[in-house]
Amino acid sequence: MNTHSLHHSGISRREFLKFCTTTASLLALPPSMIPQIAQALQNAPRQSVIWLSFQECTACTESLLRTYTPATVDKLLFHLISLDYHHTLQAAAGHAAEQALAAAVKANYGKYLVIVDGSIPVGNPGYSTIAGISNKDMLLEVAKGAKAVIASGTCASYGGLPHAHPNPTGAVPIQELIRDKPVVNVPGCPPVPGSLASVIVYYLTFQKLPHLDSLKRPLPFFGQNIHNHCARLHFYEDKKFAKSFDDRGAKQGWCLLKLGCKGPLTYNACATLKWNGGVSSPIEAGHGCLGCSEPDFWDAGSFYKALPEGLHHRHRHGEGRGMGNGMGNRMGGRMGNGMGPGGGRMNGGGNRHRHGRDQEE
Ligand code: SF4
Ligand code: SF4
Ligand code: F3S
Repeated sequence: MNTHSLHHSGISRREFLKFCTTTASLLALPPSMIPQIAQALQNAPRQSVIWLSFQECTACTESLLRTYTPATVDKLLFHLISLDYHHTLQAAAGHAAEQALAAAVKANYGKYLVIVDGSIPVGNPGYSTIAGISNKDMLLEVAKGAKAVIASGTCASYGGLPHAHPNPTGAVPIQELIRDKPVVNVPGCPPVPGSLASVIVYYLTFQKLPHLDSLKRPLPFFGQNIHNHCARLHFYEDKKFAKSFDDRGAKQGWCLLKLGCKGPLTYNACATLKWNGGVSSPIEAGHGCLGCSEPDFWDAGSFYKALPEGLHHRHRHGEGRGMGNGMGNRMGGRMGNGMGPGGGRMNGGGNRHRHGRDQEE
């Protein structure tokens, strides 16, 4: 994407440099890297991307389409990549769609990126097929020619909702099937759009994936828990907790821990990148974090049961990072009654070890 094509895309040099500066900042790169990002993006050929959708709900794609940071998709990201195949967005259907996929694979074999949303049913591949091809076969075939695979959303990263107990389709995440290619997980239900866009830009700039944590998540966006950057943190420190969604504390923006917020256990960029162009996040809007970027969050019990005291204190200070065994297990071990379907059964310890007196309505 040279200066000429920038101009023809309606993107000013100033907008482009702002994009590079924002990207460097989001990826925690020093300002000295900005010229390198700008040069790489200007000189790089448009990166071929093949996007496959399997057991998913389409909100991961919806999320990316609403990217505002570091750039609107239509203004910049789609000028940096060539989205050669996308199950949901493409105009082609039927045989024409399958021919488009085959053509995209053939034209850029060995060079394209694969982005996947949705999990793969391996219990019975017949649960989800496209053109008579099982999701597993399609993934393995297309991934053969990929440089790297990006799992977009919690379904692709960890199995997500289809994987929730009793997992009727035998859903598995992408990383369980792709072992011979670099795989990065960008979880969230859906993922924060800026984090997915920035991972793509990082790859275009450096031709490699950013540093990952033990769950294969990019550290710039998943290196901190939500709690540590939460706008309500000072209320948590002051032990001011809302006890219902319409009490005085809730109206004054108090901490939502007692209403089930999983922010202390959840690693994601919601509190920093936010949503809708940095306007707000679930917690700012008045609802506790559900932990949607963590494995097995659907099976972690009730979304509205408070975390045990010891658990949220421990994670407040970053301990237990990268345990890699899913929120359900992490919480289940402490909550004492086996997480499972139906939720609302997290009755293990609750608030037994409270230090001091909470303020409430
Ligand atoms: Fe939908 Fe969430 Fe799965 Fe994305 S991760 S496809 S938003 S259920
Ligand atoms: Fe914010 Fe939730 Fe932490 Fe309270 S518990 S400070 S609402 S992240
Ligand atoms: Fe998900 Fe929690 Fe963010 S529920 S969207 S990780 S605030």
